[in-house]
Amino acid sequence: DKGTYPFYMLKEIDEQPIVLRHLISRYLPQDNEPQIGEGIINDIKAADRLYIIAAGTSYNAGLVGARMFERWAGIPTEVHVSSEFAHDQPLLSENPFFIFLSQSGETADSREVLQNINALGFKSLTLTNVEKSTLWREATYALPLIAGPEIAVASTKAYVAQITLQAILAYALADRKQLNLDLEQELSKIAVTIQGIIDDKETLQKVADDMLVPSQNAFYIGRGVDAAVVLEDALKLKEVSYVQTEGFAAGELKHGTLALIEQDTPVIAIMTQPSLAGLVRGNLAETQARGSKTFTIVTKAIAKPEDDLVLPDINELLTPLVSVVPAQLLAYYTSLGRGLDVDHPRNLAKSVTVQ
Ligand code: M6R
Repeated sequence: DKGTYPFYMLKEIDEQPIVLRHLISRYLPQDNEPQIGEGIINDIKAADRLYIIAAGTSYNAGLVGARMFERWAGIPTEVHVSSEFAHDQPLLSENPFFIFLSQSGETADSREVLQNINALGFKSLTLTNVEKSTLWREATYALPLIAGPEIAVASTKAYVAQITLQAILAYALADRKQLNLDLEQELSKIAVTIQGIIDDKETLQKVADDMLVPSQNAFYIGRGVDAAVVLEDALKLKEVSYVQTEGFAAGELKHGTLALIEQDTPVIAIMTQPSLAGLVRGNLAETQARGSKTFTIVTKAIAKPEDDLVLPDINELLTPLVSVVPAQLLAYYTSLGRGLDVDHPRNLAKSVTVQ
């Protein structure tokens, strides 16, 4: 039931702080001791490489998770689109372990991969929002995202839940003394920060109305982990508003996309990584020189007076949990401003059970 909300998408965006709190109390109940089954931890530790398999938003969440498995836990990790992996399987390492990410647990492309790797005798873990779903039942292990039912076709809280659960898993696999990260505290701070962005959503509605509602196209750019988040930001916007949107690594602009920048083309830059901010600002300036209308989302350490939305400083790999929220709201309000049925974009289904 969406209660007083006009659309489920807004309700589900609003639920994200509580989703984080639920995940903390379930998987990190005390003393930063992750509660992940021993079998999962031992089997992943025995593997020489992780393969994350997913589609759409879940794939985008995997791109963020992979960085945590590599940098926090030191495990080489590849992320693959399930529809590709199913029919064009790459050369596997000697001892792979598979992680399936799926809100619904029913995505046909991902199910096909699971069947293939089960036939090869490899072990797997599914992170899904739907307990007892096919990917839940057919994987070696499964953990619930406990995000509550996600009804809007555009996935929001499942993305945040998938990144959070991957973070907790990577944390469980890491040498935590060396990592020096209070994950529980950081996630709690993120929940508060997300709430702040949600409380100020009218500001983003105005940005959407001015900049995106009238536009034919839009671009999201970022580097490092932000280059992963902008893929999700762009997917969200295009899927619910039909504004043709591309998200890509900022350094790629000059290799082709810059040709599309005209007077008033919207370019949104996400900058959360201090070591990369200078480069992204340079890329953004190249678009401004061609007349782009820009909007910047930055963390405090990077912020300059001309920036539009400033987020507090948080662990660099966890910034996607926060920086995605303004993009979700921009997508929502652009769809709303265009008078569309936000929860049911044309041509799309919530759960994609055909290949
Ligand atoms: O249920 P899944 O997470 O496996 O679904 C994967 C995609 O179909 C899904 O994320 C899709 O991209 C969403 N509509 C994006 O908002």
